[in-house]
Amino acid sequence: MLHSLVALTLAASLVRSTRAGSNNLQTSQIKWGACDPSVVNDTSLSCGFLEVPLDYQDPSVGTARLALIKANATGERQGTVLFNPGGPGGSGLAFLNDNKDLFLRLTGGVYDVLGWDPRGVGNVTVPGDTFCFDNREEYEALFNGTVELTGIEEIGNFANDSDVQALLDQASALQQKYEEVGQRCLNSPNGKYLRYLGTAATVRDMVSIADALDGPETPINYLGISYGTLIGSWFVNMFPERVGRVVLDGIIDPVFFAAHEISTHFEHLLVSTDTIYKVLITGCALAGPAGCAAASEGDGPLDIDAKFQALLKAAYDAAKADPAAPLTSGQIRLQLYFELFSPTDWAHYMNTVYPALVASVKGEAQNNRSLVEQSRQLSGRRVFKRTANTSPLYTSASIYCADSPDLQGTTMTDVLEAVIAGTRNVSHMLGAILPAPLYQCSFWPVRSVERYQGPYNKTLANKILIASNTLDPVTSLAGAEVLAGLLGEDAVLVRINAFGHTTLAVPSKCMEGIIAAYMANGTLPANGTVCEVDADFEVFHGVDTAMILAELPDGDV
Ligand SMILES: *[C@@H]1O[C@H](CO)[C@@H](O)[C@H](O)[C@H]1NC(C)=O
Ligand SMILES: *[C@@H]1O[C@H](CO)[C@@H](O)[C@H](O)[C@H]1NC(C)=O
Ligand SMILES: *[C@@H]1O[C@H](CO)[C@@H](O)[C@H](O)[C@H]1NC(C)=O
Ligand SMILES: *[C@@H]1O[C@H](CO)[C@@H](O)[C@H](O)[C@H]1NC(C)=O
Ligand SMILES: *[C@@H]1O[C@H](CO)[C@@H](O)[C@H](O)[C@H]1NC(C)=O
Ligand SMILES: *[C@@H]1O[C@H](CO)[C@@H](O)[C@H](O)[C@H]1NC(C)=O
Ligand SMILES: *[C@@H]1O[C@H](CO)[C@@H](O)[C@H](O)[C@H]1NC(C)=O
Ligand SMILES: *[C@@H]1O[C@H](CO)[C@@H](O)[C@H](O)[C@H]1NC(C)=O
Ligand SMILES: *[C@@H]1O[C@H](CO)[C@@H](O)[C@H](O)[C@H]1NC(C)=O
Ligand SMILES: *[C@@H]1O[C@H](CO)[C@@H](O)[C@H](O)[C@H]1NC(C)=O
Repeated sequence: MLHSLVALTLAASLVRSTRAGSNNLQTSQIKWGACDPSVVNDTSLSCGFLEVPLDYQDPSVGTARLALIKANATGERQGTVLFNPGGPGGSGLAFLNDNKDLFLRLTGGVYDVLGWDPRGVGNVTVPGDTFCFDNREEYEALFNGTVELTGIEEIGNFANDSDVQALLDQASALQQKYEEVGQRCLNSPNGKYLRYLGTAATVRDMVSIADALDGPETPINYLGISYGTLIGSWFVNMFPERVGRVVLDGIIDPVFFAAHEISTHFEHLLVSTDTIYKVLITGCALAGPAGCAAASEGDGPLDIDAKFQALLKAAYDAAKADPAAPLTSGQIRLQLYFELFSPTDWAHYMNTVYPALVASVKGEAQNNRSLVEQSRQLSGRRVFKRTANTSPLYTSASIYCADSPDLQGTTMTDVLEAVIAGTRNVSHMLGAILPAPLYQCSFWPVRSVERYQGPYNKTLANKILIASNTLDPVTSLAGAEVLAGLLGEDAVLVRINAFGHTTLAVPSKCMEGIIAAYMANGTLPANGTVCEVDADFEVFHGVDTAMILAELPDGDV
């Protein structure tokens, strides 16, 4: 485990400057108008811009131009709620375009809902997305033959030492490549901005937006999901006197984040993933062949698991036989990991994607590339998005890494050894995935000029609501408990007895009602309140959440 908790001096200037309670900048007036139709096509939404300082400590550095979007309150307006959809790198513009009704419902209809593309995100805000390669070919040439492109090949929790060796053999070359990527990013059009990206600056931007909309000193209402909860936990502690109604859903543990390099601690995020995989195969078995294509008559969860393991083994063998095999076990794992985020997609995954994966791996075994290509198209966006002919995005890395501690001297061998240990002792099924943006943080060339490193237990002007699922594949319930524990009387923790990433992953009128009542009226339920998923939501045909959870051993939930 970890050796030292490193306090970073970069945070020092920050603590001083948060006392004032406002950024004290002269905010330009926001002019609202039509949105850029290439990004937003819901004409009931308005868009605008706000200029903010790139560096809040040093105005001479220049300004950023934030793209804002707004949905008008449907009822009697009480103010504004800002939201962030996570990522980091998620576009508030795109998210509100797609989810306006949900956000108006969650906020009781009594607020204008305000989204924005944070600095370093999207193509409307300046600076926007970070690209470090001119095109896809340059990127693929650099990483040709490495796990960055193929994923990690292993079975049986790295049972075969030659898999351990093959992975560690790549370490020093990979490290050089990630260092080269860092230099390329510095030399890219966004290079001069990289130091000014990150969560502390985004928190200050959020305060600037609220000041411009509703005036300084006013309470700031905020709804953040996933990485948006890091913005939230930093915000409520950097500006405790500005806290209005704040909902944080799917918590990144801010204490752990501040103290550990995520590149060597990815396993910390995976504590619930194998249990959620168990939930998936249990649901499939309960559904049987009529509801889940992977199930044969009479199959139990272990039979479905055996089929998954056989699929991974076949892909692993195919890659051993032909290192250029286009579909690897590492890629299948990565896709499965992202599936665990969204139970509403599981029936589609098991009935359409999974059979396509089986067919394509069989095709590989027979060297049938046309079958493999067909299946790749079927098997969905997340994994194979990387094959789209576009330069890879470094937006997420540019924010996450800029915020991440830099212990200096972490090597790629340390990172890969952590992957092996995490696979062996935390997530057998999904420890060996390659979340590239996080792995490269130890080699990222800059850190933000300002990062918030705690404390996280400030006394807040208003109580906040913390939400989580019982089983979340990336932001575990444990993180929510840490934050709720630190905030004490200033926070109420509610959860859904459910699986998936954030409470928005599953329908729950109970949770929606709690969030809306808090947002609209300030009412909060008892700490520790547990909601259920709506009973009419079927994970597989004829199989609901309660039926699946009832099958799991008590220790799992
Ligand atoms: C901005 O990005 C979106 C996709 O996110 C794309 O559809 C659009 O064309 C882009 N707009 C501009 C002006 O580049
Ligand atoms: C525009 O709206 C349609 C559905 O009405 C949606 O499928 C599409 O993705 C939207 N495009 C953009 C750029 O938001
Ligand atoms: C939103 O509200 C503002 C202020 O009341 C109004 O000027 C604007 O027209 C509204 N926008 C839409 C799309 O209804
Ligand atoms: C990757 O390397 C292989 C063999 O080393 C070579 O045949 C192939 O052209 C390379 N691909 C790219 C995109 O550079
Ligand atoms: C381990 O992997 C090596 C190389 O692929 C292979 O030759 C060997 O048979 C494997 N060992 C076992 C026990 O499967
Ligand atoms: C490869 O798969 C395609 C599509 O299913 C099929 O039409 C073709 O006959 C297969 N070729 C071989 C050599 O198996
Ligand atoms: C995880 O496994 C490694 C061996 O791979 C071991 O050295 C380490 O102590 C284990 N860590 C935990 C937290 O169990
Ligand atoms: C807040 O946490 C710090 C440690 O980070 C501790 O020293 C301090 O006593 C705590 N304050 C309160 C009010 O609990
Ligand atoms: C609420 O519950 C959480 C998790 O059980 C706990 O850490 C926290 O201290 C509780 N808060 C209050 C005010 O009792
Ligand atoms: C807020 O309280 C009022 C009055 O009790 C009630 O009518 C309304 O439904 C509540 N709003 C929400 C979103 O729960």
